[in-house]
Amino acid sequence: LTLELYIPGPVMLSAKVNEAMSKPVVSHRGDAFHKVFSNCHEGMKTVYGAKDGEVLLFSVPGTGAIDAALANTILDSDRVLAFGNGDFGRRICENAQLYAKVGQFKAVQVENGKGLHIEQVRKEIDEFKPTYIAVVHNDTASTVLNPLKEIAKAAQDAGAFLMADSVSGLGSTPLEFDAWKIGACASASQKCIAGPAGMSFLALNADAIGRISKQPKPRSYYFDPKKYLSYVQKNEHPNTPSLAGFFGLEQAIAELADEGMDARIERHEKMAQYVAGRLEKMNAPFFIEQGYRSRSVTGIKTDKSPALRAKMKQQEYLLSGGMGDHKDKVLRVAHMANMNEQGLGKMLDSLEASVKEVGGF
Ligand SMILES: Cc1ncc(COP(=O)(O)O)c(C=O)c1O
Repeated sequence: LTLELYIPGPVMLSAKVNEAMSKPVVSHRGDAFHKVFSNCHEGMKTVYGAKDGEVLLFSVPGTGAIDAALANTILDSDRVLAFGNGDFGRRICENAQLYAKVGQFKAVQVENGKGLHIEQVRKEIDEFKPTYIAVVHNDTASTVLNPLKEIAKAAQDAGAFLMADSVSGLGSTPLEFDAWKIGACASASQKCIAGPAGMSFLALNADAIGRISKQPKPRSYYFDPKKYLSYVQKNEHPNTPSLAGFFGLEQAIAELADEGMDARIERHEKMAQYVAGRLEKMNAPFFIEQGYRSRSVTGIKTDKSPALRAKMKQQEYLLSGGMGDHKDKVLRVAHMANMNEQGLGKMLDSLEASVKEVGGF
């Protein structure tokens, strides 16, 4: 049984990305790989809007890039403020706390479903006076999109360094790494970049690179960004990366470039509106405040989530439940990467029929 994936990553890949991943292996120190690496590196710099900043490429899941960022840019002297409004927000708080000194850390957990309101962010900053802020741009678990541009401005006004997880934001909604003066931003390939799972990225600005150089020693042997920063100059990865991952990523980036970054973002906005419109007609119980709804995944609150997912599976569609405590209380519909209105429309026809069969949401 081949299921059509309408889960928020990993996403279904284009035939060409799948083909690229089955290309013969080359040496990770040879010219052929240098070209692939350079295309991925330059491509991701464009995607991030990081002309001045540097972008590191990892052949590990997004969690690795996030951990690499927090481990190496949090200094012992930092006062770290982390925000969370979903399961990935909870994780970034836990992850940041690992590297913050005891007594110099605060996590602000906002109710699941609520966006991070900029007034609250500024108030927390005023009270705690952080030198380092960690936040999730688009929490794929709660399906909330946070106002990263405004949060970056608030961090800048307070003179604090900003680290953002944009694993499911990048590609679906504007993100301008240089212009917004973000310090570090981690993302991954298997969401709106429409690339393979297991590849991730970390954009670093000059401030981040300065912090890394100030660390008395790397906090991880593998995630030593000094190594990545020197190897990136040679179009190489410090170790033996997933060659298939790089081949697939190269093709996914080429497809993104063909579509155009603005067009991809606009397509995600349209898909999000289309899905919301269809779900509204079904009287779906939305739980995310207007203005904070993700452009790449929509969550609705329903105890029928397990029954609906089972019905959809019989029709060869895979949808997601919620995460953590919300597993069986939330239904998530993804609209990202190569998905389109036609495919989403068919899937939503099936969902509409399934909702009727189970007697409403
Ligand atoms: C917002 C967010 N952060 C982090 C991650 C972790 O990424 P990975 O599973 O690639 O480690 C995910 C994955 O779904 C995510 O959506």
